[in-house]
Amino acid sequence: MTPYQLLGGEAVLRPLVEDFVRRMVGDAMIGYLFRGVDHPNLVERELELTARFLGADRAYQGRPIKEAHARHRILGGQFDRRTQLLRETLRDYDVPPDVQQVWISHVERLRSQITAEKSGECAD
Ligand code: HEM
Repeated sequence: MTPYQLLGGEAVLRPLVEDFVRRMVGDAMIGYLFRGVDHPNLVERELELTARFLGADRAYQGRPIKEAHARHRILGGQFDRRTQLLRETLRDYDVPPDVQQVWISHVERLRSQITAEKSGECAD
């Protein structure tokens, strides 16, 4: 069974991603970055990408991740904030722990393509 099937497929993934995007767009720390962004398109692209890395036979039709984020200056703390919102969403949807782990490690692997900063913490 793939993580995608374990999750419950599109029937679970679609409302989850819609909710996650709503949380990002409404967030005080990162929401402003999504002004002027086509939100329904963002939902579809996030959905395809996620379905794919969770094992669905689905094509990602968006831009390469580095290119899509290049015009935004995303800070390490903002990257961490998105991850936090994702964790909260996964918890609220009772996503199985194994699937959460695959999802979060995928996010961490993409970090350097999205922000130049290692983390939001201050150096000592
Ligand atoms: C690994 C983490 C992330 C993934 C997997 C991801 C995924 C995506 C995807 C699939 C798109 C759509 C690309 C397209 O339209 O072709 C997108 C766009 C976007 N993402 Fe992310 N993203 C991540 C991290 C972030 C973070 C940390 C932020 C800001 C805090 C962010 C802000 C945005 C914005 C503003 C857009 C719209 C880009 C534009 O049209 O100018 N993303 N992201």
